[in-house]
Formats: sequence, structure tokens, C-alpha cells
Amino acid sequence: MTKKILVTGGAGFIGSNFVHHILKNRDWEVVNLDLLTYAGNLANLKDVEGLPNYKFVQGDIADKEFVFDLFSREKFDGVINFAAETHVDRSIEDSSPFIQTNIVGTHVLLEATRKFEVPRYHQVSTDEVYGDLGDNSRDFFTEETPLAPNCPYAAAKTSADLLVKSWHETYGIFATISRCSNNYGPYQFPEKLIPFFLFRAMKNEDLTLYGDGKNIRDWLYVLDHCEAILNIFENSPAGEVWNIGGHNEKTNLEITNLILKHTNSKSQIKFIEDRKAHDRRYAIDASKISRELGWTPKHTFEEALPLTIEWYLNNKDWVESCRAKVGNS
Ligand SMILES: NC(=O)c1ccc[n+]([C@@H]2O[C@H](COP(=O)([O-])OP(=O)(O)OC[C@H]3O[C@@H](n4cnc5c(N)ncnc54)[C@H](O)[C@@H]3O)[C@@H](O)[C@H]2O)c1
Repeated sequence: MTKKILVTGGAGFIGSNFVHHILKNRDWEVVNLDLLTYAGNLANLKDVEGLPNYKFVQGDIADKEFVFDLFSREKFDGVINFAAETHVDRSIEDSSPFIQTNIVGTHVLLEATRKFEVPRYHQVSTDEVYGDLGDNSRDFFTEETPLAPNCPYAAAKTSADLLVKSWHETYGIFATISRCSNNYGPYQFPEKLIPFFLFRAMKNEDLTLYGDGKNIRDWLYVLDHCEAILNIFENSPAGEVWNIGGHNEKTNLEITNLILKHTNSKSQIKFIEDRKAHDRRYAIDASKISRELGWTPKHTFEEALPLTIEWYLNNKDWVESCRAKVGNS
């Protein structure tokens, strides 16, 4: 049966990949609500903008009047909330937009879901809500790991998760949450590690790594994340939390060396003072979603990283236009 879905933050990195994924694989109507902050880019969606079952609406998820008006006009069958402020460094510089969008915005969407009786709400969250596994453990985050965020971005995302849980428990809205590890792939704003270092490597500029570069992240190809979200949206019971990850742990230094190798760049690695509250290791146990929903990643890092690098090398204008928005440094 065809559905009408609200995707928020659909002009960003994962959201735009998700909009493409849905329009390719389902016969659904998609309304994309995005504020178009520096991270939102309609060029990511050029190829779908004329489709009759796709509509873009510019607006703020934290603007209650605007959101309620949208929900009263469109009868959504589901909401998938990607919209967020997402860059940890920015959250340390100025946490206000993170509180506003990630917490207040989620609250507004939950209230609209409740008032207009939308049958499904999905919150796209992050493994950063679990805090730090540290250098010396071989543990993994499970869905039962206590929430222990360390930076303002992670704290705001955790707060949103708690709102979602309580709106499900208190008001009975049908809500689910997914917590994914670091994503890589096309359309990621070039301030995040992989596209930022690619952008600098293309220009033979220094690659500055925080601390000793040995912080570990678990990397997942963005399309695998999109498939997992769609699977959860269609198949999860209400009130469930799902970890998503690929058992693909790499240090930031390893990622940097791979970028240098694939681009034949003359860039030098420079180690700089560590980021405040820089978690050492994140690693996801995704066995629940594999066991209960049959999701496993389809892309290996060895094949998808070169594809990703090739995409950025073939889309230098896109990269330059993004960097121009934030001053190109
Ligand atoms: N990138 C990752 O590795 C990763 C990993 C796990 C989870 N996540 C989560 O996935 C989601 C998407 O992440 P991303 O990397 O694609 O982010 P992004 O920064 O690339 O995109 C965010 C999008 O949200 C929009 N937006 C921001 N504030 C808004 C507001 N107030 N109203 C409406 N739209 C607004 C922006 O314009 C942008 O299009 C986020 O919720 C993030 O926490 C990201």
C-alpha cells in the first residue's frame, strides 16, 4: 500500500541518501522538511526534484506553529526524523542550535505525531549516546548499555531519545529509535573526517588529527544505514531501540592513511591538541537487528571506501560549493 512519509533533514547527508533509497525502492510519497542550514543542500536531490511523489518543504522542525500547520494539511503515515545539528566540534563551540533543533525540534515532532495521530515515528539517533568504551575494553555497545553522553551533541541526541521513549510510554505513540555508528558515503558535508580530509588531500594540504589519532570509530556505508532504517520503519514493533553498525572499527589514523593512499596525495599528517571530551572508542553490537529483523550490512569497507573516494573526486564542484558556505578553510 502506498504511504505518505515525512522525512525531516532530507537535504543532509544521510537524509538525502535515504530519500533516494525510498524513492527507488518504494512506491511512497515523500515530503522532505528541511531548514537548509549550512549542512542542507538541495543539490543532493536534483535528480528527484521533479518526481510527482516527492515534495520539498523548507522549514524548522522546532517551529511548532509551522510544523502543526504542515501536519494538519498533509495526512502523514509516518515520520522519520533525521533533522539535527550534527557536528561535534560545532556543538563544543556553541551548543544552542543543538539544544534547539535536536531537543526542542524532536519535542515538536513528537507533539505533532501525537496530536495528528501519525501511526509511526522513527528517531534517527547515534551510538554517541552511549559515551566512551575506552581504550582497554573489548566490549560493544548493546541496546541495554546505559546512556552516558560526553559532548553537547551527544547529550542533545540522548535527550531526544529520552523524549521519544517517554512519548511512547506516556502517550502511546508508535515510536522507534535507531542508534548507528559513523557513516561514510556520498553527500556528506566536507567538515566530517572522511570528506574533509579528502578535500584537503586533493589540495595537498595538511591533515590535522586530534590527539594521537588513535580514537576508534565503527564505520558503516550510508546505504546500509538507510536499508536498516527502512527495515525498522516497516517491521519493528513499537517502543524498540535498534543498534546499527558494521563491526568495522578503524582508528582515525588508519582512515587518514587510507585516504592518503587512495588519493596519492602529498599532504602531511599533523597531530594537534585533542578535542575536549574526545571519546576513545565506539563499537556497536548490531546482533539484535540482525537476529530479529534480518538486517546485515551489504557493503564491505574495502569496496565502499574506494567508491566513496571516487564519488568525491568526481564531484569536486559539489565539495567546493559546500566548503564555500563555511569559509573554505
Ligand atoms: N553522520 C553520521 O555518521 C551519523 C551517525 C549516526 C547517526 N546520525 C544521525 O543521523 C541524522 C542525520 O545526520 P547527517 O550526518 O545526515 O546530518 P547532516 O548534518 O548532514 O544533515 C542534517 C540536516 O538537517 C537539517 N536541519 C538542521 N536543523 C534543522 C531544523 N531545525 N529543521 C529542519 N531541518 C534541519 C539540515 O539542513 C541538514 O539538511 C542526525 O540525526 C544524526 O544525529 C549521523
